[in-house]
Amino acid sequence: MTATNIDQIVNLCKNRGFIFSGSEIYGGLANTWDYGPLGVELKNNIKRLWWKFFVTSNDNSVGLDGGIFLNPIVWKASGHIDGFSDPLVDCKNCKTRHRADNLVDNKCPVCGKSDFTEARDFNLMFKTHRGVVEDQGSVVYLRPETAQNEFVDFLNVQRSMRLKIPFGIGQIGKAFRNEITPGNFIFRTVEFEQMEHQLFCRESDSLNFYNTYKQKAWDFYTKVLKIDGKNLHFKDHEQLAHYAKAACDIEYLFPWGFGEICGTHHRGTFDLGNHTKHSGKPQEYTDPITNEKFIPTVIESSHGCDRVLLACLCDAYNEEKLENDTRVVLKLAPNLAPYKAAILPLQKKEQGELANTIFRKLSQLFPCTYDETASIGKRYRRQDEIGTPFCITVDFDTVNDNAVTIRERDSMKQERIKIDELGAYIGLRIL
Ligand code: GAP
Repeated sequence: MTATNIDQIVNLCKNRGFIFSGSEIYGGLANTWDYGPLGVELKNNIKRLWWKFFVTSNDNSVGLDGGIFLNPIVWKASGHIDGFSDPLVDCKNCKTRHRADNLVDNKCPVCGKSDFTEARDFNLMFKTHRGVVEDQGSVVYLRPETAQNEFVDFLNVQRSMRLKIPFGIGQIGKAFRNEITPGNFIFRTVEFEQMEHQLFCRESDSLNFYNTYKQKAWDFYTKVLKIDGKNLHFKDHEQLAHYAKAACDIEYLFPWGFGEICGTHHRGTFDLGNHTKHSGKPQEYTDPITNEKFIPTVIESSHGCDRVLLACLCDAYNEEKLENDTRVVLKLAPNLAPYKAAILPLQKKEQGELANTIFRKLSQLFPCTYDETASIGKRYRRQDEIGTPFCITVDFDTVNDNAVTIRERDSMKQERIKIDELGAYIGLRIL
C-alpha cells in the first residue's frame, strides 16, 4: 500500500521533521516549504544517487555548478522572456485567479461561475534589480531552470576537459518560478531544485540517445530509488515546449492522480543555436579528426528533486495491521533512509553508556540516531515511521556476549550480532 491521502504525508513530514511550511510563525508564505533534519538527509540522498547515476558513473559525463543569476540576454536567447508564460484569467464573481488552460468546462473551481476576464499571459520568471538603480538596465532574473548554465558553459566545459562528443553535463541546483496556481504540498512550488543532464551529440545519433535517456530515467526511479514501477508511467507530450522536438515525461501516481516528476526532451540545436545568435559567438563543436564544425544536438534529462522526494515518500508510506496494533512504516530503500540505524538501550540506566559508545562509533560510518526514552516497542514504531532500516537493541546480555539484537524494519525479524560486526553488516545493506 502507498499513501492514499496527501494529508498522511503532510502530517508525517511536519511531525517527524521532514518538511515544515515556510515562515510558519508569521502565518507562512504560500507555496514555500523548509526541509527539516530528516528531509534534508532524504533530499541529499536523492541528489547523491542522481549525481552518481547520471554523472560520475558515466565515463562521458561531468558536473557543473553554475550561478542562479545569468546575464539577462540568456533568457532572451532561451525563449523564456518571450515565451515562458501561463495564460491567466480572473473570476469576475469571486475574484480568484486561475490558469485558463486548467479550467474544467470553463467553470471557476472556487465558485462554479463561468464569468472570467480575458486571458493574459503571465511570465513565470521572478524579476529583480541588481545594484541601487531600479532601471531596465539593471534587471536580472532568478533562473527558471538550471539547464541554461549547462548551455552557456558548454564550450568552457568541452575545452577545459577535452571532451569528445557524445558527452554530458549534469547540474543540481535551485530554480524559481512565479507559479500562480499553488500545488499539492511540495509538488508545485515557487522555489525548487532541479537535477538536469544535457547530452551533446550528433543529430544522427540523437533519436537513439533520446530513447536511451528515457529508459535511463525509468531505471533511476525503479532500480536506484526502488519506486514501484506500477505507480509510474511514461507520458508523451501532446503540446511541445518552445524548445522541444520530442518530449516524454515520467509521471508518478500521487494520491490526487498522475503528476510529472521528470522529462526527457529532444532539444535539437535550439539552445546552442540561439546562444550563437544572441552572443555572436559560435557555440560549435570541432571534430578533432575531420575538423568539421557543427552545433551539437541536445538530449535533456530533467528531474525535479522535490517532486521525486514526494514520490519516494508516497511510495514508501504503509499502514500495516499487526496482531494488536497498526504501524505506520516508511519502506524507503535503505540508500534513501535518513538514518540507517537507531541504537536503543533496553534500559537507560543499565545499558545507556554502552549504547552511546556504539552510537558514536557507528555514526562515523553512516547517519544514526539514538533513543533511550519510552518502551522498546514505542521506539521501534518511531523508527518505522521515519524509515530507519535497522534498530539495534543493547540489552542485559550485551555486556556478557558483546552482541546486540538487530531488527530489520520491513520483516521485523531480529538477529543477534557481535558489536564488532555491526558496521560491516549494515554497511552492506544500505548501498
Ligand atoms: N529544463 C527543462 C525544464 O525545466 P520542466 O518540465 O519545466 O523542464 C523539469 O521542469 C522538472 O522540474 C519537472 O519535471 C518537475 O519535476 C520540476 N518542476 C517544474 N516546475 C516545478 C515547480 N513549480 N515546483 C516543483 N518542481 C517543478
